[in-house]
Amino acid sequence: MREALLRILARHSQGSGDDGVDTEICVCALSNARLDIGLPPFSGTSLPACLEPTVARALADAPRTDRDFKILLSALETLLSSSRWIKRSASEGDDDAFEERHRHALILGKGALLECSTLTVGLAVMEPKLCYPYHKHPPAEFYVVLSEGYWYREDVGWWNPGPGGVVFNPPSAVHSMRSTDKPLLALWGLSHAVD
Ligand SMILES: [Fe+2]
Repeated sequence: MREALLRILARHSQGSGDDGVDTEICVCALSNARLDIGLPPFSGTSLPACLEPTVARALADAPRTDRDFKILLSALETLLSSSRWIKRSASEGDDDAFEERHRHALILGKGALLECSTLTVGLAVMEPKLCYPYHKHPPAEFYVVLSEGYWYREDVGWWNPGPGGVVFNPPSAVHSMRSTDKPLLALWGLSHAVD
């Protein structure tokens, strides 16, 4: 899974222009990450039953046109059966229903299935017609886009990377995403590496 993900990110990195430094940060963090089998207690809870059809539909629609995406999705499907799920709390002004209409499966990171101190990787799932709160954080971030959906970054605006697309966010850039009339599915990673 790591090798497939690295190839997907590296392919995008070659044509990313101004995003090259942030891309490199994420690729290096993933390449150098030490992964250990996670031990309980894990973070998060089980997936709510009401979101199971959303996850199943999103995985069924995810792009498998490329060997690396087939490897990635096959690994995710295996890991999801044991994954724990977390949610982002809604802030003032957010859609009241937001919290119960999305989840993130923790794949790598502290308290995740695979323990890792330098990288957090999760799978975001959102129900149709939902907007993720605008937010920012110090770590650089990547998304491997696995569905239709719109992404926002403060210096770019809204755009649709398309299934199979890759998004990079520089440290502390305001960003968001929103689903279309279908579920949104994306693998994300936050680099905590220090030099
Ligand atoms: Fe983010």
